[in-house]
Amino acid sequence: MERTVVLITGCSSGIGQHLALRLASDPSRSFKVYATLRDLRAQGPLWEAARARGCPPDSLETLQLDVRDSDSVAAARARVTEGRVDVLVCNAGRGLLGPLEAHAASAVSSVLDVNVAGTVRTLQAFLPDMKRRRSGRVLVTGSMGGLMGLPFNAVYCASKFAIEGLCESLAVLLPPFGIHVSLIECGPVRTAFQDKLEGGPGGALDCTDAQTRHLFSLYQRHCERVFRETAQDPEEVTEVFLTALRAPQPALRYFSTERFLPLARLRLDDLSGRSFVAAMQRAVFADESAEAGAGGLGAPEPGAPPATPQ
Ligand SMILES: NC(=O)c1ccc[n+]([C@@H]2O[C@H](COP(=O)([O-])OP(=O)(O)OC[C@H]3O[C@@H](n4cnc5c(N)ncnc54)[C@H](OP(=O)(O)O)[C@@H]3O)[C@@H](O)[C@H]2O)c1
Repeated sequence: MERTVVLITGCSSGIGQHLALRLASDPSRSFKVYATLRDLRAQGPLWEAARARGCPPDSLETLQLDVRDSDSVAAARARVTEGRVDVLVCNAGRGLLGPLEAHAASAVSSVLDVNVAGTVRTLQAFLPDMKRRRSGRVLVTGSMGGLMGLPFNAVYCASKFAIEGLCESLAVLLPPFGIHVSLIECGPVRTAFQDKLEGGPGGALDCTDAQTRHLFSLYQRHCERVFRETAQDPEEVTEVFLTALRAPQPALRYFSTERFLPLARLRLDDLSGRSFVAAMQRAVFADESAEAGAGGLGAPEPGAPPATPQ
């Protein structure tokens, strides 16, 4: 039986690593997984976990792939011995958190380069062959931050909104080539993501004013609570990738959780954006409005949906 060849970006930790292990250890033994990493020196934990899970030795291979470097992407593609990738998973990503004016220009460029241009580079490298073969699946790790604006995540959200447009455009074009593009929209997931934020947590906060710093501290408190109450394990999220991968006619979007959909729907129900902005302000800065009373941002509505950091 010919195995399904899967190549995943960003496998040093988190969702990418768990997905690589899940597929490589699948009892069907029907996957050959190329787990790619920006820096192969970080591959130790992946192999340790592969041994612990009993992944068959020929089910998993690691390759260097830095999505910022098209030569690195092309070199990884050339090292796929089967000569084809059936399923491409664009997962590599970086976060950027804090007031906009606190971000170094290099941090902004880096996040846009990894999250947007990096995904484009990866797709450019693998789509032409899929088109020639008239077959392929593309799974992209999306985010609720790509479906709604989150305060203090402006650049990250801009990058993930861009991914939505990229994937939606391709999803319209590619079915006649036998290629399906699916976004796996994740809410908060327990990974190393928060520890690897570009520029650290918040950026240069002394570059901003006292009120913004105060709102940022409220936001951080809100995030801690939302993470504590709602974050998913990567194992749970990887099952959603499998659902998309196995669907005969995959949808454009799959959601790891339905918890944040009421806020996302609000954006579409009121295209002026007023309802969404008000609801998001209430959800995130609820503590502030309690402190400020009627003149504040508005009291939280009972049962108001939570807003997520990612
Ligand atoms: N965790 C969440 O709450 C959450 C929620 C929604 C969406 N997401 C998305 O999920 C994806 C995976 O994130 P995660 O949560 O699993 O966090 P993670 O553990 O930090 O994983 C991110 C992966 O991307 C890799 N990466 C960063 N820059 C790269 C580059 N230039 N080239 C190749 N790989 C690169 C990282 O490698 P290094 O270790 O080498 O930097 C790491 O392996 C991201 O796209 C993120 O936006 C995460």
